[in-house]
Amino acid sequence: MADLYGWHWQDYPETNSTNDLAAKLSANPPAQRFVVTAERQTQGRGRRGREWQSLTGNLFMSLAMEEPSPNWSELVFVVSLALLETVRVYQPEINVRLKWPNDVLVKGRKISGILLEKGAGLYIIIGIGVNIAAAPLSTESLYPAASLAESGINTDRCAFLAAFLQQFNRFYELWIKSGFAAVKEQWLKKALGLNREISVNLPRQSLDGIFRGIDDNGCLLLETAGKITKIAAGDVFFQKD
Ligand code: BTN
Repeated sequence: MADLYGWHWQDYPETNSTNDLAAKLSANPPAQRFVVTAERQTQGRGRRGREWQSLTGNLFMSLAMEEPSPNWSELVFVVSLALLETVRVYQPEINVRLKWPNDVLVKGRKISGILLEKGAGLYIIIGIGVNIAAAPLSTESLYPAASLAESGINTDRCAFLAAFLQQFNRFYELWIKSGFAAVKEQWLKKALGLNREISVNLPRQSLDGIFRGIDDNGCLLLETAGKITKIAAGDVFFQKD
């Protein structure tokens, strides 16, 4: 237990999912803002009901905070930017980009995932997995994955957590003070594939088109046959150059 940049931090040897644990704790919160980490996760969850492989040495964290804004889902963009900047603290020149809606790619491969959920009352739970030491085999994940270690970044889960919380506080303040427009502007500067051909997999179909950015609600703007379609949820794939 420790206080880290305004966050009460609890680390556990093992849990099924840090998101589940944080949601449970949010009914009786140990502090207004708290973060739960675990060395091992036995049932890590990803987006859209997928499994999140929780390999030894990686970071599994869930931030819990009260968020009265109805637009709390915009926080995925805040968190993505904070993750990107944390990676750049270690290697300022590294090729790190963002992929809609919430992936951070190092040299085109996914190094983290974000799962935003509701906790008790006004609490929201921001679950984040970072491949610090090891990456799942690409056959087992939707996108090719990489670890920070194989990209030459030598850190550990606790050091990365501390560095990340500082960046999160910074971008959260930007969101609160200047609104989503300021976050969106920053996000678009770091987005991969802008104005390029992409495919978006939706539950029942796949759409091909040109990635024209995001709207004021964070929806992806896809241009198909001169028409813009807004997409709220889906998996993006880039066409090979
Ligand atoms: C994704 O599918 O990209 C999101 C993955 C989110 C994984 C993290 S690991 C910590 C937290 N606990 C979970 O069970 N999931 C999130």
